[in-house]
Amino acid sequence: MEKKELLYEGKAKKLFKTNEEEKLWVTYLNQATALNGVKKDTIAGKGQLNNQITSLIFSYLKQAGINSHFIQQISETDQLIEAVKMFPLEVVIRNVAAGSFSKRLGISEGTALDFPILEFYFKEDKLDDPMINEDHIAYLKIATKSEVQQIKELAHRINLALIQLFKDIGIRLVDFKLEFGKRQDGTIILADEISPDTCRLWDLATNEHLDKDIYRLDLGDLVPVYEEVLTRLKKLN
Ligand code: TMP
Repeated sequence: MEKKELLYEGKAKKLFKTNEEEKLWVTYLNQATALNGVKKDTIAGKGQLNNQITSLIFSYLKQAGINSHFIQQISETDQLIEAVKMFPLEVVIRNVAAGSFSKRLGISEGTALDFPILEFYFKEDKLDDPMINEDHIAYLKIATKSEVQQIKELAHRINLALIQLFKDIGIRLVDFKLEFGKRQDGTIILADEISPDTCRLWDLATNEHLDKDIYRLDLGDLVPVYEEVLTRLKKLN
């Protein structure tokens, strides 16, 4: 597989074309951002940790019957993925109140939710990724009603699989963000990444943060915490 020209550079990843049209090359970067890019730092080792964690989680989900764009990990920091048309959506699922949910609704962090709550955000940096609903999605022609339905169903299935995965390694899955893409034949699949950058993970025994809140809230060094998540995931395989 040959790496070709840069297609896109995001906050945490670079995306390259390859010699095969339907495959893309992703390089995970050592960059950490928060507050929509206002807080920004380079953290040595972060890229390879998120690449390895995402690769293990996407492989686990595949075994659980959930397809994603992930093809294979090709180096510590790189993976090969299927080229799909991304929906400009961030799909957040919450099992426990935290973060913007707690702030917006005045519900104490750590309150277990009676059922998983799904939220949509419009992925548009210049608007600061606003929260939107299904009518907004239809009006903006981001996805059809049937596609939204499929995305919701997939997100809830992924939630159930991830709750179990993390429970098995002593972690409470508080909330997380997913992104989805569409193949040329219209099939919707999971895309982007699932890592401590995109999830809130609390240690089941101690409630310690094992995720990017360490960086967002200036709680200490992120690298040993992400290493801990990777070590626990590796023990499962
Ligand atoms: P929030 O509480 O800040 O809305 O975040 C909910 C979850 O979504 C949390 O696990 C972090 C994740 N997330 C992202 O991965 N990217 C984002 O841009 C945002 C806002 C949240």
